[in-house]
Amino acid sequence: MESLHPDVQKLLLSEDDIKRIVERLGDEISRDYAGKNPLIVAVLRGAFVFTADLIRSVTVPCAVDFMAVSSYGDGIKSSGVVRIVKDLDTKIEGRHVIIAEDILDSGLTLSYLIDLLRARHPASVEVATFAVKDIEGKTPAIEPRYVGTHVPNEFIVGYGLDFAERYRNLPYVGVLKPEAYA
Ligand code: IMP
Ligand code: MG
Repeated sequence: MESLHPDVQKLLLSEDDIKRIVERLGDEISRDYAGKNPLIVAVLRGAFVFTADLIRSVTVPCAVDFMAVSSYGDGIKSSGVVRIVKDLDTKIEGRHVIIAEDILDSGLTLSYLIDLLRARHPASVEVATFAVKDIEGKTPAIEPRYVGTHVPNEFIVGYGLDFAERYRNLPYVGVLKPEAYA
């Protein structure tokens, strides 16, 4: 059992849990995209860890590109303001696009991205999110096609997820202690 970072209150997903989740998503995508050569778009920075694992569990030919958007700044609350920091290098017209995201909270970030990519006339756009944050009485702005897991409405870090650019390197997912962001 790996020892937890001192700022982490509780382990949510171990490395083994994560491996199982990502393998299942890779299987689903490989089955659905046979013969389609999808472009997997990692939403930087958080999704790069998930995407690196995901593409290695996808068995159909696929390509990868990156987009960077900023919606949280360095804080912990969604501002609803999404800024494109880095755009795709790939032309997506006629392509099957899968947006890979680390965590879906309000869904505002993804809803904005989907609209933006749809305007470029891809053959399809779907979302694969590693986690969905369950918030009572609230439904996210979009419905992702591929969902790795659900997490409680707490601030989580690790496996690419950060607070103020820290903790992305933790190999597991855990709940951040409130003292760490107070
Ligand atoms: P949304 O637009 O509200 O869905 O916010 C999604 C983005 O906020 C994610 O891509 C993450 O970068 C960030 N985010 C949301 N919840 C958390 C969390 O619990 N930990 C770390 N980042 C989060
Ligand atoms: Mg993110």
